[in-house]
Amino acid sequence: VRIAIVGWEEGLAGQVSTWIETAMQCSIEYYVHPNDTFPIISAKDALARPAKNFSFPVNGMYLNLPMIISKDWLKRLAELNIEGVVCCLSNSQERESIYRELVKSDIALLTAVHPSAQVLGGAEIKPGCILEPNTYVGYRAEIGVCTHVKVGSQVDHHSVVGDFSEIGPGALIAGNVLVGEHSKIHLGSTIINRVSVPRNTTVGAGANVVKTYQDEGLTLIGNPAKPMSK
Ligand SMILES: CC(C)(COP(=O)(O)OP(=O)(O)OC[C@H]1O[C@@H](n2cnc3c(N)ncnc32)[C@H](O)[C@@H]1OP(=O)(O)O)[C@@H](O)C(=O)NCCC(=O)NCCS
Repeated sequence: VRIAIVGWEEGLAGQVSTWIETAMQCSIEYYVHPNDTFPIISAKDALARPAKNFSFPVNGMYLNLPMIISKDWLKRLAELNIEGVVCCLSNSQERESIYRELVKSDIALLTAVHPSAQVLGGAEIKPGCILEPNTYVGYRAEIGVCTHVKVGSQVDHHSVVGDFSEIGPGALIAGNVLVGEHSKIHLGSTIINRVSVPRNTTVGAGANVVKTYQDEGLTLIGNPAKPMSK
């Protein structure tokens, strides 16, 4: 299967590129920036990182493959006989617009599951999700469309994670939890069982959410987690 990856961020597209061809028996042919203009990337900024081995797009290429830089990316992919797309964009609104375009097309929105991910019986992983290495999705849990479950995180039994959300590295979501769509549950945070957080919630790194919140758009931090003052 010939596929394209939408996105070119090292922490997402770069990482997924290292395992998806083996895991899904596919071949990555292109990276896509779904816009006509490309952000200016300063090589100095891009390389100002602890690791020196870091890639970024140069002259329309990323990781030695050509990029498609166009709002007409779907038409271009169809002309190039691309059969499927993995959406590796970190911005959840952008993921939603890619999803809306793809569902109207003949190109498949692929779900990428690393071979070390564990998905228990009755769990539902909706289209466009990425399950990174060592993730766990429990019995009858539901992961919404284009949701990213990042390395080492867990979503336990009967929990529901809304569309276009992100469960950060090492985050722990207990059973019977509801996470609203477009939420970000960051690095190493926890949400205890039978708690709900609405749409567009951010749970800060290391926070421990122990009660339900009703207001959308909150950032919850600390233990027990409380809304961050604006
Ligand atoms: C919660 C978060 C989103 C807030 O970001 P922000 O609005 O830019 O916050 P700031 O960095 O301006 O910090 C504001 C204050 O909150 C504190 N704070 C920030 N994040 C916090 C956290 N997770 N827990 C406790 N306190 C936190 C800061 O120390 C700072 O306190 P001060 O005003 O007393 O100095 C962010 O800090 C966070 O947790 N990000 C997660 C990153 C992550 O998990 N990345 C993984 C990528 S895969």
